Amino acid sequence: MRSLIDPAADALWDAVVITSTLDGVDEQRPETDDDWAALERSALHLVEAGNLLRIDGRAIAGPDAVSDMPGVDLEPADIAVLVAANPDAWRRAAREIHDVGVLLLAATRAQDVDALLEGGSRLQVACESCHSRFWYPPMPPSDDAEP
Ligand code: HEC
Repeated sequence: MRSLIDPAADALWDAVVITSTLDGVDEQRPETDDDWAALERSALHLVEAGNLLRIDGRAIAGPDAVSDMPGVDLEPADIAVLVAANPDAWRRAAREIHDVGVLLLAATRAQDVDALLEGGSRLQVACESCHSRFWYPPMPPSDDAEP
């Protein structure tokens, strides 16, 4: 997460920044082929990270890893139990990172800012829906909870 997925996602989210100032709207966006090539690499990292997350039995974290925020985030051993109990939901969540990665890859290859922004929003949902299910302690059940 920290070394592969997070930097790739940040690069894609930070690629377009629109700020409104007193002088008007200031838009920062990828300009050169090199800018777009760097984003293309980040999108590929997400595609492959989505594949890596779907390897059965893969350890959730390194052997000595513990939660940075016990009580706020689950410990790796608890996460592993949740994943083992909900393998399909885990694979779907990982698959979504792969699929959004593919969309973002197409957006970077087409140098399409709108598609990049759209993929970026879908990516945010993809990260959070897996984290809320597998990383944060369970919430009391609600009516719209996924079956
Ligand atoms: C398939 C489930 C899943 C998806 C999808 C997912 N994550 Fe995670 N993420 C986890 C789990 C489980 C942890 C806690 C264990 C760990 O640290 O790896 C975590 C932890 C993290 C951490 C903390 C890592 C650390 O070392 O403290 C960051 C940052 C993070 N995720 C970012 C992201 C971002 C950004 C995305 C979307 C682009 C994303 N994650 C998508 C499951 C997922």
